[in-house]
Amino acid sequence: MTPEHDPTTRMFALDGRVAIVTGASSGLGAAVARALAGAGARVAVVARRRDRLAQLADGIGGLAVACDLADPERLGAVVPAVAEGLGRPEILVNAAGNMFTTERAEAEPLDAVRRTLELNLVAPLLLAQAVFPHMCALGRGSIVNVSSISGRVGIPGIPQASYAASKAGLSGLTAELAVQWARHSIRVNTVAPGFFRSEITGPLYDSERAAGYLRRHTPLPREGSADDIVGAVLWLAGDAGGYVTGQTVVVDGGWTAR
Ligand SMILES: NC(=O)c1ccc[n+]([C@@H]2O[C@H](COP(=O)([O-])OP(=O)(O)OC[C@H]3O[C@@H](n4cnc5c(N)ncnc54)[C@H](OP(=O)(O)O)[C@@H]3O)[C@@H](O)[C@H]2O)c1
Repeated sequence: MTPEHDPTTRMFALDGRVAIVTGASSGLGAAVARALAGAGARVAVVARRRDRLAQLADGIGGLAVACDLADPERLGAVVPAVAEGLGRPEILVNAAGNMFTTERAEAEPLDAVRRTLELNLVAPLLLAQAVFPHMCALGRGSIVNVSSISGRVGIPGIPQASYAASKAGLSGLTAELAVQWARHSIRVNTVAPGFFRSEITGPLYDSERAAGYLRRHTPLPREGSADDIVGAVLWLAGDAGGYVTGQTVVVDGGWTAR
């Protein structure tokens, strides 16, 4: 049997499906965009840094859409641009996110709280609203949000109250959208990563003390990588995860299992 006819391979195939991946200019989003393209999807990559997006889009035969997702008015142009450039989106991966303050909860500035919620929670909802009519027209769709284990457990020593609230909010949003949109065969899930090295967490891994803390709290005896998250996203995006909806799947090397 040739690989393309193997039923297991077929489950993960995304031939010709149009996917949008936000936060694709680095880290997890970039790895997810490459993996979806590798599975056959036509991928639109979204973030602010045009040069990086253009390079990635060239490499995977996709479409670069530069946008500041914290600005709801600009965000409104993303899905129409993808629909025009590639066709109706069937997959949306909301990976863009950031942490705007490391102050303790009692001192988090209101501006940082608002920016965190705007990018990490409001933008995924607005993008989900924007892809909804396309997914309805296609008769199916898969939305995968990227949250964090801090949406589920407190992380001692690394203050992140508004970030945690935004990520927990994604899980609530996921369950509600899953129930409301199931009748359109639109599935909505969330992947909650533990710690892995990226631009956001680089300073943590570069500090021997902080890296030791991460190692001590992670049962699996190695550092996580973006590729560890990609498998879960691929599963949820395509037919292999076809009966999974409303779930938050934790990928954390066992951090929250202790
Ligand atoms: N690394 C971890 O340990 C970890 C753990 C738990 C959860 N996460 C989550 O995983 C996701 C990916 O993070 P990462 O670790 O891969 O970090 P990263 O490398 O810093 O990636 C963040 C991405 O978000 C984009 N982004 C940030 N602000 C944006 C804005 N205003 N508009 C549009 N795009 C914006 C960035 O691109 P531009 O700067 O080009 O806009 C970048 O592509 C995030 O949601 C993060 O919260 C990460």
